[in-house]
Amino acid sequence: MIQAVNLCKSFGNLEVFKDLNININRGECVAVIGPSGTGKSVFFRTLAMLEKPDSGQVYINGTDITGKDVNINKVREKLGMVYQGFHLFSHLNVMDNITLAPLKVKKMNKSDAQKKAMELLTMVGLTDKSLSYPHQLSGGQQQRVAIARSLAMDPDIILFDEPTSALDPSMTGEVLAIIRKLARSGLTMMISTHEMSFAQDVASRVIYMDEKGIYEQGTADQIFKNPTREKTRMFIRKLKVFSYSINSRGFDMVEMNVQIELFCQKYNIEPKKVNYIQLVLEELILEVYGDSSINLQLKIDFTIEFSEERNEILISFVYDGRSFNPFEAAEESEHLGMVLIYGVSKNYGYSFENGLNTININI
Ligand SMILES: Nc1ncnc2c1ncn2[C@@H]1O[C@H](COP(=O)(O)OP(=O)(O)OP(=O)(O)O)[C@@H](O)[C@H]1O
Ligand SMILES: [Mg+2]
Repeated sequence: MIQAVNLCKSFGNLEVFKDLNININRGECVAVIGPSGTGKSVFFRTLAMLEKPDSGQVYINGTDITGKDVNINKVREKLGMVYQGFHLFSHLNVMDNITLAPLKVKKMNKSDAQKKAMELLTMVGLTDKSLSYPHQLSGGQQQRVAIARSLAMDPDIILFDEPTSALDPSMTGEVLAIIRKLARSGLTMMISTHEMSFAQDVASRVIYMDEKGIYEQGTADQIFKNPTREKTRMFIRKLKVFSYSINSRGFDMVEMNVQIELFCQKYNIEPKKVNYIQLVLEELILEVYGDSSINLQLKIDFTIEFSEERNEILISFVYDGRSFNPFEAAEESEHLGMVLIYGVSKNYGYSFENGLNTININI
């Protein structure tokens, strides 16, 4: 139905996406998610030929719409777009907003266009607003009119670019309800959104954009419950991450602890947990550098991941050198430090792969 092949788009030095490939089938509802600035809007605008791609093709029902001799107005009849900011014509009432394109572009006769507009207004719950002007409507109502206007052209696909992000939370629900209804009716659509629970609920496929393109995609369950790649996981679980590197035994532990405290304060991590984090890290560092057979220039990298969603801390502690498992070493002789770690952690694990030791501890 709609296909992008090796699509590339830059603005000057800023490469927004590169070699983006996607194929959307009829009836799919595809949610596009990702951090701000990763190119969701530019991607939609490029699919709709509102931005010219630097290279690559977009096909709608097999027709290459990036070709020179394509009538772009004909294309836009097939591809509707609903924007964050509604984009209604302020000098036209609701009825005229909806019937303008069917009358001008599709050359529909007026009574058919108005009849269809009334059906669409019924569908979006605004039958009594046909003669109102946009400024007389709430944001949620304006967005519902924008959806009706887009549907009036009978598009093959509608791209919704953050349709609720300009709305008060009280009005988000009414717009999402309409979009949900359209998705269930089998309309092909793509929707970029920061409403994660909505995306999870409505989308047949979820695309996570990052790193100049589609970073990960899958079913809603795969992406929301089991994201496989690092950045997707961080985004979905709302992870806040602190990273720190230690290059020798003579590093400044006081400075490290100050940095950890600042990070924890920023995300309101409870003081008891902050103490646990510092305790665990200090003991692990002492264990690793304390192992007499180990290289003193050994490099340690650790991250503290805080999941706001789960109120959970994961410490990931990685060091090079030979395989050295402090949990095993602790079993052989009494290590008070390791006993402390057992006491404060919910889970812990050790692995050795490609010359790197990794310890994961949940607090
Ligand atoms: N017309 C333009 N000229 C120059 N740079 C642009 C233009 N439009 C977008 N950009 C840049 O392209 C990048 C992607 O922007 P885009 O609006 O697509 O992000 P987004 O993923 O939609 O973000 P958000 O979630 O905040 O809506 C940003 O760095 C943005 O500043
Ligand atoms: Mg955007």
